[in-house]
Amino acid sequence: MLRDRWDSRTAFVLASIGSAIGLGNVWRFPYVCYANGGGAFLLAYLVALFIAGIPLLILEFGLGHKMNGSAPQSFFKVKKSYEWMGWMAILVGFFIVCYYAIIMSYCFNYGIAAVTQAWGNNPQEYFDKLTGITSGPFEMGSIRGPVIMGLLLSWIAIVLCIWKGAKTVGKVVYFTVLIPWFLLIVFVVRGVTLPGAIQGLNYYLTPDFSKLLEPQVWLAAFTQVFFSFSIGFGVMIAYGSFLPRDSDIVNNAFIIGLCDAGTAFLGGLAVFGALGYHSFITGKPVEAVVSAGPGLVFVTYPAIISNLPFWQPLFGVLFFLMLLTLAIDSAFSLVEGVAAGVQDKWKLSHRTVNISVALLAFGLAIPLTFGGGLHWLDIVDRFMTQFGLISIVLIECLVIGYIYGSRKMKEYVNSQSEFSVRGWWDIFIKVVTPIVLLFLIAMEVIARVKSSYGGYPRGAEFIGGWLVVILIPVVGFILMKIKRVEA
Ligand code: PHE
Repeated sequence: MLRDRWDSRTAFVLASIGSAIGLGNVWRFPYVCYANGGGAFLLAYLVALFIAGIPLLILEFGLGHKMNGSAPQSFFKVKKSYEWMGWMAILVGFFIVCYYAIIMSYCFNYGIAAVTQAWGNNPQEYFDKLTGITSGPFEMGSIRGPVIMGLLLSWIAIVLCIWKGAKTVGKVVYFTVLIPWFLLIVFVVRGVTLPGAIQGLNYYLTPDFSKLLEPQVWLAAFTQVFFSFSIGFGVMIAYGSFLPRDSDIVNNAFIIGLCDAGTAFLGGLAVFGALGYHSFITGKPVEAVVSAGPGLVFVTYPAIISNLPFWQPLFGVLFFLMLLTLAIDSAFSLVEGVAAGVQDKWKLSHRTVNISVALLAFGLAIPLTFGGGLHWLDIVDRFMTQFGLISIVLIECLVIGYIYGSRKMKEYVNSQSEFSVRGWWDIFIKVVTPIVLLFLIAMEVIARVKSSYGGYPRGAEFIGGWLVVILIPVVGFILMKIKRVEA
């Protein structure tokens, strides 16, 4: 099959930036940072960015480009029996897009609520009302009409964006990357100038070095970097495979990585400014003003918006439009990653695959639209990222580092790049990153044996966490065994 190709280098860079920059930067990064000590986390994040984030981005682009295939296909070309590893990446991506679309649905609802001014002065209350959040995962509550409607709209939007593959994506991303950047700047300016903002910024920017001794902080930093860079989901491998033959890899990887991290940093400025403001109003310390979970941005940003001097509804709509435009290119990149994997193996049309993925993901996410759904989302996110993602990245490092040979990959990447990577790259891929990741996984296993994540009941942790994590390699293996039907 002749591969779909990007129209231009800009299209590729924007599409990759679009995939990388998403809810991860403005929704996930702030709450993970908040929950892991602010400044300390920021420092760990920077380290993770340079020793693992950028080197792996180079690896994934290089792998996809060299093998000219999606994740399963690329692993297959390294060694036939490794194909399942690529499927694992795709499956993790698939589970993530299921709940990613739920967050998009919240954004839709907030955007509408901004017009009707439904959150008024208490966004926290509005969030609870929207999600109908129950007291625990086993108390499912009722289905939330607005959430499921939002989910449906999100999926329709995603499918439309990728209707014609890389060609449409290449055009859509001009909008989905540039609009949110502009809007983010407006929010940062307002966030950091709120009364009391400085307290929040201090928490964000002053590292507490003792926190760096906690493996938890490092684990959170590494997973956040992978999540944000879209590494370990087969997405960047697929995007690398759409690159024309004479493109640049290393330079683009740096541009994409730094833009992504820069955006997360900006997102953090706005959120922590707003947290400082909350602390100022409530008189509580910054680390205790709001609960540090997936609901964080839905509480902090509305506070910024309600404090804008004028046009609050307009900015409210714009804000959630920004979140949606940021999210949509990440969501469709996930679908593209899955589609590329499926299409490399079975002769199916692009449209059929996209629509099937969308329907399946929509169906699987329905339980998350219930009152208890947010608890499940939190558990699945935790296990998918801390175990799924980290293991896949570890596998990538080992397979490319030792089986394929990091040297060989480095030479290939360099032959495709304006400037070359050197020995540091081999060291990060073969030694440093694998050791760190092994250590982090081990610590996380120990922590989970000692106590369940977030105090959730063990049963819920088992179903939403362990079971899904175990299913991934198993299903990957089954997919590998199904017969290939080539075009
Ligand atoms: N990187 C995206 C974000 O930060 C999420 C994503 C993960 C997208 C994996 C694609 C693949 O929101």
